[in-house]
Amino acid sequence: TPLVLLIIIAAYLLGSVSSAVLICRLFRLPDPRDSGSGNPGATNVLRIGGRGAAALVLICDILKGMLPVWISYFLGINPFLLGIIGIAACLGHIYPLFFHFRGGKGVATALGALAPIGWDLSGMLIASWLVVAVLCGYSSLASMITALIAPMFTWWVKPQYTMPVAMLSCLIILRHHENVRRLLDGKEYKIWHKFNRQS
Ligand code: G3P
Repeated sequence: TPLVLLIIIAAYLLGSVSSAVLICRLFRLPDPRDSGSGNPGATNVLRIGGRGAAALVLICDILKGMLPVWISYFLGINPFLLGIIGIAACLGHIYPLFFHFRGGKGVATALGALAPIGWDLSGMLIASWLVVAVLCGYSSLASMITALIAPMFTWWVKPQYTMPVAMLSCLIILRHHENVRRLLDGKEYKIWHKFNRQS
């Protein structure tokens, strides 16, 4: 229906608003696309700007996925289309219309988009991310391992969402190809790696 199409476009456009870039501008921090890992996401903002700015980026990026999917859920839109809406939000974050299509990796936005599926799934994904992140110190590895197990968790708790979650996982893992290279070369930045706060 036209309403669903409108929501898909709105989800993409909302996803396209790069909170990392805007919040760094607001806090007069260097552009996250040119500093640290070069990724406009909460992890990299933590490296270049500290916890406050990073937490704000994390919340905004989660909301970009959560809002459109939750609103659509309450409008009674079916699971398949909810999946498309969540993917649209993540595609907006990864390939933002307003930021020369140079976006992030979609981890926080995907987590937000999955939240309406249930707190059991979200809780397990957050826990898995934290366990890997604390054990190895690499945000990228935590994200990829969590993305890998997300479809299995989903299949277990809400099987009807397995397909869209698997698609999101593929998108996120493929998006981490530079991190995979750095991990293999032993050059990946740790989550708590601090960069000079100058541009
Ligand atoms: O969510 C992004 C994270 O998985 C990797 O970020 O800055 O280490 O490339 P970064």
